[in-house]
Amino acid sequence: MFNSKIAGIGYYVPEKVVTNFDLIKVMDTSDEWIQERTGIVERRYAEKHKESTSTLGVKAAEIAIARAGITAKDIDFIVFATLSPDYYFPGSGVLLQRQMGMNGIGALDIRNQCSGFIYGLSVADQFVKTGMYKNVLLVGAEMHSCGLDFTTRGRNVTVIFGDGAGAVVLQPTEDQAKGVLSTHLHADGEHAERLSYLNPGSHGGVFLGTEKFGYPDQEFGGAFLTEHMIATEDIYPNMDGQHVFKFAVTKFPEVIQEALHANGYQAKDIDMFIPHQANLRISQFVQQKLGLSDDKVWNNIQKYGNTTAASIPIALCEAWEAGKVKENDLVCLAAFGSGFTWASALIRW
Ligand code: ACO
Repeated sequence: MFNSKIAGIGYYVPEKVVTNFDLIKVMDTSDEWIQERTGIVERRYAEKHKESTSTLGVKAAEIAIARAGITAKDIDFIVFATLSPDYYFPGSGVLLQRQMGMNGIGALDIRNQCSGFIYGLSVADQFVKTGMYKNVLLVGAEMHSCGLDFTTRGRNVTVIFGDGAGAVVLQPTEDQAKGVLSTHLHADGEHAERLSYLNPGSHGGVFLGTEKFGYPDQEFGGAFLTEHMIATEDIYPNMDGQHVFKFAVTKFPEVIQEALHANGYQAKDIDMFIPHQANLRISQFVQQKLGLSDDKVWNNIQKYGNTTAASIPIALCEAWEAGKVKENDLVCLAAFGSGFTWASALIRW
């Protein structure tokens, strides 16, 4: 058995900066409200018609692969986590593969939203541990900006999210004390609709007790996306913010303690904590609960907003580039999000 280690890491955020003041021009919100509740000052939006989720992922992947000292041809498996894929299907993994000329190897798409990167890390880790693959490319990428409601109706969700991508290359190491020490994955589908993007979909209101989704009244055929959904603008994300907040502040500390306990560590042993950048208030609450000083936590939601599956690799990469993640450091990753899903990982760098 091997351990898997992060041999290369990279991130990419689009050039276009969108401040809270830019959003005030299109919806009834304020810089004060957004900063006070979420910590966000600005976020990045990708260039429509030129960039997509997979193209953002490619840019991050190219950096990670170069830093691992290999080429795209050496990658033997792709794991791609996103909730904002280029197409309904196929997944963005094969689109990234096509752009990077890696045709033929397996490409797996992960649908676990904010926990997607850690779920993906867990999958990639198992493949490397068992010796099945030697260079696994794991990408988290999102282009939220083209799927948000930019009217006042959507303000509670829209102000939070931004675009970006992060990637790592995982390789085997024989040193059992190094690399990914453990991953811990959880979900509770009871809360599925509390943070969701329902359409297009096959549900037809089954779980919601309503038929208002406008599926054609014919024996066969129909569409995942109906005219009714579009006419009623039922094509945007929904979030019960307070419900999400309540669960996030409980599950984050729980899953971190689970990872520490599994490896015989305590919170004071963590050298760098990288929380999924959901909301600065959530991260600060978790930091306080763990008793970690500011120099042991990396937050960048102020600059990028919540980039869902991309937030952890972007933050991890920034921390590493700043020299805050060094050889032998104990790094803790944790996430909570739609599903609900939550997860953690401990890495000995
Ligand atoms: N600008 C101005 N006012 C707003 C905005 C906005 N962008 N959004 C909502 N409001 C208004 C509401 O309409 C409401 O007005 P009312 O009192 O007149 O009805 C008021 O602000 C309060 O709304 P709440 O939803 O109760 O606001 P809350 O204090 O809960 O803050 C927030 C909302 C920031 C979303 C909070 O609930 C939260 O942080 N929840 C966690 C959710 C989260 O982090 N999601 C991230 C994505 S999921 C993930 O990554 C885990």
